[in-house]
Order: sequence, then structure tokens, then C-alpha cells
Amino acid sequence: MLKVAIVGYGGIAKGPHTSAWKKIENAKVVAACDIRPERLDLAKSAFSSNIGLYEDYKEMIDKEKPDIVDICTPNYLHSPIAVYALEKGAHVICEKPDAISVEDALKMQAAKEASGKVLMTIRNNRYSAGSQYLKHLVTSGQAGEIYSGRCGWIRKRGIPGKGGWFTTKAQSGGGPLIDLGVHMIDLAIYLMGNPKAVSVTGNTYSKFADNTEKADSSHATFGQAKEDGIYDVEDLAMGFVKFDNGSCLQIEFSWASNIKRETRFVQLRGTKKGLEFRDGIIDVFDGGRNTKRARIKHNVDARKLDTGIAKVLNGHEANIRHFVDVITKGVEPVFTIEQGVDMIKILSGIYESAQTGKEVLL
Ligand SMILES: NC(=O)c1ccc[n+]([C@@H]2O[C@H](COP(=O)([O-])OP(=O)(O)OC[C@H]3O[C@@H](n4cnc5c(N)ncnc54)[C@H](O)[C@@H]3O)[C@@H](O)[C@H]2O)c1
Repeated sequence: MLKVAIVGYGGIAKGPHTSAWKKIENAKVVAACDIRPERLDLAKSAFSSNIGLYEDYKEMIDKEKPDIVDICTPNYLHSPIAVYALEKGAHVICEKPDAISVEDALKMQAAKEASGKVLMTIRNNRYSAGSQYLKHLVTSGQAGEIYSGRCGWIRKRGIPGKGGWFTTKAQSGGGPLIDLGVHMIDLAIYLMGNPKAVSVTGNTYSKFADNTEKADSSHATFGQAKEDGIYDVEDLAMGFVKFDNGSCLQIEFSWASNIKRETRFVQLRGTKKGLEFRDGIIDVFDGGRNTKRARIKHNVDARKLDTGIAKVLNGHEANIRHFVDVITKGVEPVFTIEQGVDMIKILSGIYESAQTGKEVLL
């Protein structure tokens, strides 16, 4: 039985991570750490009154000697906690984004390589049934050559924890580009066959720092809002990524925008088919009048696809199960730490381009 220790027991830990660990047969949560004692009470009632409870992650790792450390803290802590856990001999699963700077991401990669342990960052959107269906359409050749894409996650009103860590650049690394972009840019690149990004351009805007309108998106309940807190990140980012194989990706991410409604999407242009995954619905276009539409949960049984990882419909559970299978069964990881470093290079490059007004070569 693998011993699991969770660091950070906030929104994402008590939801998807807790339900995943409870279902995974060969792993058991033995300890949790949070700097807020009331969060530890939640962990105790979610798992068992016998689990170890800590306010200091180093003490937890030293005493419990877990096989796995699951990192669910604010972004700036991902890298230092991952490095510490790897150095102490634990495998690490870490929430997205990988890190808040390229330097921090490289430290994680170096610690992983020195330790020989498994380090994966959550990419739950890759593992959903819909994504696996799209991956199957691409890898089976049905869409032809994928030569360009567009992706985005545009919220109308959905700033997470305004004034708290999410909107404080030193703790989050940025706004919707790093928070939401990591999900959809990763999904687009994964579906495109992981081409290597070679250059980026982008613009960012911060127009809602002083807007006191009540957020109307359920996502705005993430994190902890703080009146008179810091808001020094963007609320809209637009950009363009070029890849080594000649393909490109147009991107758009917002926490707050004056648009019709919130939407998230990946659109791929292939020589045989165009694919669009928008708000849980897949459309397949062939240039004619017909559109093949698949409502994933009802029409597509991803468990029958040949992509090798979709065993369940929930992205987080499938992601964490895959991580455990990499450790225990030696299965080929679908996410590599190099892809994580490349992702942070793309995001940091877009922030740099927004500041300098120039294209950034990666
Ligand atoms: N994959 C997804 O879909 C998804 C969704 C939401 C959040 N996330 C990611 O999960 C992470 C946490 O986000 P959240 O929404 O749960 O935030 P949150 O603020 O609700 O939870 C973070 C928790 O970490 C604790 N914490 C802070 N510093 C700590 C420390 N030094 N040691 C131990 N605990 C500490 C906080 O007290 C809090 O309980 C972020 O990296 C975020 O990007 C991912």
C-alpha cells in the first residue's frame, strides 16, 4: 500500500484529490499538512482520525516518510515542496501550474532526475473522456495532419479569490494565462502531438482590478478573496505560439471580460477533419454541410478507446490513477517533466512579450 501525504488542503484537495485517493485501491492517505488548522480538521474527517496532521510540510515528510507527496498549495510553493519531497525520496504529484518561473520548473526537473522518482504535474483535462476521444481521432489518422489550432478559456466574471494568492503575482505567477492557459494550451499541444514551441507573442490587460461587481461564475469561489488585497496580475491574455513543425496556436484567456458567456475550447485544423471541443461537446467538421457531434458523457465510451489512459470519466481521478500506475506498473507516462518545463517557458515568454512588445524566441 502506497503511503500518501497531501500538502495544502484547500478547494482542489478536498474535492477532486480526496475523492480520487479514496477510490484508488493501492494507495492510502496517511497525513495532511496545511497552515490553517481548520483545513486539517476537514482532512481528518475526510480520511481518518488516525492520519497525521501537520502545519509544516518538511516535518510531515521527515516524520511520515510517505511514498507519495500530493501538492495542492498555492502555485509559488509547488517547486520548493516538490524539490524537498523528491530529495527525501518521495514520488510527487503536483497541481498545475508546474511552477511560477522557468527557474523553479528547472529546479523540479533537476530534483526529479537526481532522485529517479516519478514527478508529474496535474493535467486533468488530458484525461477526460472527451479529450481521449479527440486524441483517438488524431492518432488514428482520421483528422489528417493537424497544422494549426486555437484554444481559450474566457470567463465573463470569474476572478478566483480576488485580493488573495490567485491575484498576487508573487504567489500565483500571473492571472488567467497561467491559471487557465496551462489547462487548454497543454491540451491543444498534447492533441497536436507535442510539437516543440519555438516562439511566442502576446498582450496582457488588467482592467478589472478596481471593478467591484460581484463575480457571477462559480469559479470565482476558488481561493480566498481578501478585501483590499493585492491585484497585480492580468485579467485578459491573448497570444500566439509557433512550433518547430510549422504549426501554430492562437490563445485567449480571461477571468473577466465583457462577452456573451463563459466558454472553454480547443479547436484543431486538420487536413482531413477539423475538431472542436467546446464546453464538453465535440464537433467534427469535414468542410461539407455535415457536422458530427458527440456529447461525450452520453455517446462516447472513452473506456473503449485505444489511447491507453482513459479508464474513468473524471479527469483528476484518471490523472492520479495514471500517476500511480507509472509508479507501480511502470507504464509509460503520458506527461513528462520536459513538457512541464516547456509549458512554463511558453507562459513566461508570453508575459515577457506583453512587457517588451516583441516576439520571444524560446
Ligand atoms: N486542476 C484544476 O482543475 C485546479 C483547479 C483549482 C485549483 N488548482 C490548483 O490547485 C492549487 C490550490 O488551489 P486551491 O483552489 O485549492 O487553493 P486554496 O487557496 O483553496 O487552497 C490552498 C491551500 O494551501 C494551504 N497552504 C498555503 N500555504 C501552505 C503551506 N506553506 N503549507 C501547507 N499548506 C499551505 C492554504 O491554507 C489552503 O488551504 C493551485 O496550484 C491551483 O492552481 C487546480
